[in-house]
Amino acid sequence: MIEGKIGLAPMADYTDYAYREICRKNGAEFTFTEMISVEALIRDKKESFSMLPKENEKDIGIQLFGSNIESFIKAAKLVENKGNWIDINAGCPVKKVIKKGAGSALLKDLDKLGNIIKALKENVEIPVGVKIRLGFDEDIAEKIIEVVQKNNANYVIVHARTQKQLYSGEANWKRFRDLKKICDIPLGASGDIYSYEDAQILMSEYNVDFVIVARGSMGNPWIFSNRKPEFEEFKLTILEHIKMMIDDYGEEKAIRRFKKIFIAYTKGLKNAREIRKQIPYINTYNDLEKIVYALEK
Ligand SMILES: Cc1cc2nc3c(=O)[nH]c(=O)nc-3n(C[C@H](O)[C@H](O)[C@H](O)COP(=O)(O)O)c2cc1C
Repeated sequence: MIEGKIGLAPMADYTDYAYREICRKNGAEFTFTEMISVEALIRDKKESFSMLPKENEKDIGIQLFGSNIESFIKAAKLVENKGNWIDINAGCPVKKVIKKGAGSALLKDLDKLGNIIKALKENVEIPVGVKIRLGFDEDIAEKIIEVVQKNNANYVIVHARTQKQLYSGEANWKRFRDLKKICDIPLGASGDIYSYEDAQILMSEYNVDFVIVARGSMGNPWIFSNRKPEFEEFKLTILEHIKMMIDDYGEEKAIRRFKKIFIAYTKGLKNAREIRKQIPYINTYNDLEKIVYALEK
């Protein structure tokens, strides 16, 4: 399925259709939706349905988060014909999510995590994978993976940090070597992959089967193909990205959502500081276009 490949990780508020298309066009071999709430899906919330893959998208996982098994089953059945596999979020460290027993809180209740996987495997036709962290307070990754594979998940992706670490310190890549020894299903790596070379090293030296890139793709969709674009192509990509967002959200919401992504695109540019000062005053596509043409290498 995704073995040997480099994909785009799920990122809430980032990996919408436009983001995924820009990354795919530049080499991402598979993608994920943003995490989508199972409760919102079964309440028929329009916004959650708009987060699902579009018809033209291939090799895409739908990431679901929640805590209630019945809700997971209902939501997964509702969406399974829209994507290629379901990914269970058992890694999100955000307080609002774990307070409800979802995301990385599932790592504190491995029986429940196992039951969710089992229920989805029994109730949907497409593959079901899980994205975890090394543990909640402490690293218990072997124990988690045992539960994940006992319940027949099709893959496991490990963000090599605990919940407690949030995004601090370094991802513990060394743990992938240990985990691969006990992992009979495809093992995916996440955490601190900031270059194409990092991704290759993880597969060749740390023995993981596939890799997903999150923050390293912000402002650098070329990470997936190990290429540095010409400056003209760089600017056109920024404009293409925002245009696709405007098609989906309308101008006002698209510009609001795009600002943080634009900041990422300006990283390392000669006049990044001056440009960033102007970002609060961008209200329309035309405002943004003027600024993009003023970017200096
Ligand atoms: C802004 C942001 C949003 C994220 N949203 C999600 C999410 O919706 N689901 C998920 O499983 N992980 C999410 N993550 C975690 C990433 O998928 C990834 O595991 C983590 O950032 C480590 O990889 P990196 O070092 O390549 O960023 C998010 C991370 C960031 C920075």
